[in-house]
Amino acid sequence: MFVSTLAIKGGAPALDRTTAYPWPKQHPEWSERVLRQLKSGKLSIYDRSGVVAEFEDAWSAAHGMPHSLVTNSGTAALHSAYFGIGLGPGDEVLCPTYTFFATSASLFQLGALPVLVDCQDDGSFDTEAAEELVTERTKAIVITHMWGLPCDMDAVVAFAERHGLALVEDCSHAHGATYRGRLVGTFGTASAWSLQTQKLIAAGEGGVMVTNSREIYDRAQLLGHFNKRAMAEMDSDGPLYPYSVTGLGLKYRAHPLGVAFAVGQIAELPSWIKGKQDFAEEIGALFTRIPGITALTLSTPERTSAHYALLFEVDPDLLPGGRDWLVKACNMEGLDDVDTPKATSPLHTLHLFQHPFSPVTSYDRGCVRTSHPVADRLAARTFKISVPCAPTGYEAEDARYLEAVRTVTDKIADHLSRTPGRSGDTAVAKPGKTAK
Ligand SMILES: Cc1ncc(COP(=O)(O)O)c(C=O)c1O
Repeated sequence: MFVSTLAIKGGAPALDRTTAYPWPKQHPEWSERVLRQLKSGKLSIYDRSGVVAEFEDAWSAAHGMPHSLVTNSGTAALHSAYFGIGLGPGDEVLCPTYTFFATSASLFQLGALPVLVDCQDDGSFDTEAAEELVTERTKAIVITHMWGLPCDMDAVVAFAERHGLALVEDCSHAHGATYRGRLVGTFGTASAWSLQTQKLIAAGEGGVMVTNSREIYDRAQLLGHFNKRAMAEMDSDGPLYPYSVTGLGLKYRAHPLGVAFAVGQIAELPSWIKGKQDFAEEIGALFTRIPGITALTLSTPERTSAHYALLFEVDPDLLPGGRDWLVKACNMEGLDDVDTPKATSPLHTLHLFQHPFSPVTSYDRGCVRTSHPVADRLAARTFKISVPCAPTGYEAEDARYLEAVRTVTDKIADHLSRTPGRSGDTAVAKPGKTAK
């Protein structure tokens, strides 16, 4: 039987055009909402009104949390949360090393210090590894629900309570994910989401923070929402109210056009999360029939992932060439979405965390106090791929994406089954056609 040559070995690509998951969708209702906002002339919203208030009310209602604060990025939402809970110079925060750096980088602006903690095999925060890193300076813990899979919140909440720590959830990958049926973001003292283009709720650029605490909410507003909003919304009897007219030098207001694009997406979230579960199972099965590939972030009965991406580990002993060969092979077949998470490198490998630097203090201790073998292994051996959610009206588009994944994995699996042990051991052909 004829076996087509892999593109990485000089054959024709399996797909006739490069394929990545199309996101965000361009639902006409959302575009019309943007146009209406544009035509209204309200391109700055100074107080808590209009589409910003609408988003915050919907977000609070969806999460059963009294206070939501829309910001111009997830980074700003996290900064607002950290300032909100009162962190400052001398404070330490236990932080995952396996996350995107923005999870903890704004702590440097406050003079607080992230202390890096290794992860579990699925990338989740490891409370056992955190135990030995608690010091008399530790004030808080931040966790990221990586790739959309909720952390073990029973363990995380028990850890925070045992040590008397504030808990911040970075939910930037996990809009709508649940742990034992409860939405992520509702466990923390304060929680934050990015609304950047690739995220499940996408404003282009944007973020949102929630908290149950009126005091945290007031402080968070003060950080980036000065003048009309802070003056109208903060408790006028609070100690920081006199600063409300100026804030403290930062501006974190979101662009109304981005918020207008995103606000209609909130109601869709539950059905998107449902839609993602089947696609994740199917994509998981397509890749894991290739020897050496394991899916790491599929949902479990307790943990329903938002599947920002599905993460796989490649064992180079079983698949020669390992992760890098597999990613390149998929890319050269035209499946661009298969990707090595480069920006999400373990934080202990980044200069900022190796040489902590703050504009407001100097540090006498470091961020890196242990080795992080699990995070190192994941960084060396994992790849990720987007998971569709089949929004109404886009089912055919999402089915086409799944078909592309099937076509490429069929070809690679077929090739490997006929030439076992010979995947990455030969040179890549065709100079010029390089994977990203
Ligand atoms: C886990 C995580 N935290 C925080 C952020 C920061 O969000 P933003 O880019 O909206 O500032 C991101 C963005 O990708 C992220 O992935």
